Amino acid sequence: MACATCLAVGLVFGLSGPEPVAAQAPAAAAPSGPRSSQKAYDAQAAASDPDAPGLLQPIPFSHALHAGEYKIDCMYCHTGTDQSRAAGVPSVELCMGCHAQFGGDMEGVQTLKKFWDEQKPIPWLQIHRVPEHVKFRHNRHVQAGVECQRCHGPVETMDKIHLTSDTIWWPWLLPSKKLEMGWCIDCHRQNQASQDCLTCHY
Ligand code: HEC
Ligand code: HEC
Ligand code: HEC
Ligand code: HEC
Ligand code: HEC
Repeated sequence: MACATCLAVGLVFGLSGPEPVAAQAPAAAAPSGPRSSQKAYDAQAAASDPDAPGLLQPIPFSHALHAGEYKIDCMYCHTGTDQSRAAGVPSVELCMGCHAQFGGDMEGVQTLKKFWDEQKPIPWLQIHRVPEHVKFRHNRHVQAGVECQRCHGPVETMDKIHLTSDTIWWPWLLPSKKLEMGWCIDCHRQNQASQDCLTCHY
């Protein structure tokens, strides 16, 4: 499964990739591997834009590039989503499965390699979070066929992840924002899922 994705991405990468390095004059201390595409540089710049909505992450990682352009499956990186409570973020090792071979000319990948060399986890900042007194389980939702995008918005178009702002009016024209109780209950009501207090509260 993992290798299939790597191969698929490698193939896409190979086909739509940049001109061979041989065509360019090698820079003095340039890292080895093919030069990254302009799209990748643009995505990196967009993901590190402090003025774009969302938090600046330790590495400017673009979902629009990885999940959008290269179509890497959400579950390839967020492996726990259908099995456990948390979706989880991928390990440095998983990133390196691809980036040991390419991307070393980009600053973001150089930072990634620093974490790898120091054997440290990447301190990603969590954006979607519910308070401690709330029970939320990814697996129950994913198994029920609720798409990631229903709750997280069009992630595959975002260079920098942020909370999307589609407001649901609940119950009678009361605005309820994402991650608020009214948002959860509104969808539970529409889908005949439980609205019992103890379903969502300890
Ligand atoms: C399945 C292969 C694959 C995996 C896994 C992967 N990447 Fe990438 N990554 C790519 C490809 C392909 C590019 C674009 C290369 C190009 O277009 O020249 C890229 C580009 C990037 C870039 C530059 C563009 C951007 O998004 O800012 C960064 C930084 C990056 N990756 C970081 C990561 C990190 C961090 C992880 C782990 C969370 C990761 N990658 C996992 C394939 C992968
Ligand atoms: C190549 C690996 C990779 C792929 C593929 C990927 N993600 Fe992610 N995802 C990450 C990383 C790394 C982070 C943490 C950095 C960030 O927030 O951008 C993250 C963060 C997130 C977050 C924010 C979590 C929070 O802190 O609230 C959401 C939501 C998310 N991903 C959803 C998705 C969805 C939906 C897809 C498929 C369309 C997807 N991801 C595909 C690596 C990946
Ligand atoms: C029913 C709504 C819903 C769906 C569907 C959903 N999420 Fe989430 N997601 C949330 C909520 C709520 C949080 C905050 C959870 C918390 O604080 O424990 C979250 C948090 C996350 C996080 C960061 C924290 C963590 O749990 O690791 C990631 C990454 C993430 N989601 C990815 C995904 C992906 C990928 C999918 C699809 C496979 C998905 N989510 C489907 C609502 C949803
Ligand atoms: C987009 C729709 C949607 C949203 C938003 C949503 N849920 Fe759900 N949720 C569902 C569905 C559908 C089920 C039923 C799954 C099943 O029957 O197994 C469910 C089931 C659950 C369950 C398991 C119930 C059980 O019987 O064990 C919990 C807990 C839960 N949701 C908590 C939450 C919380 C907390 C939020 C808000 C942070 C939330 N949900 C937001 C659709 C949603
Ligand atoms: C579908 C999930 C869900 C159900 C069912 C639910 N809640 Fe909540 N509740 C949440 C979430 C998520 C939050 C945190 C976000 C917020 O404060 O809006 C919350 C917050 C609260 C708070 C606010 C706590 C604070 O710190 O301000 C109270 C009080 C509360 N719920 C009581 C109830 C009661 C009583 C019921 C039953 C009638 C109930 N909830 C049913 C999801 C749910």
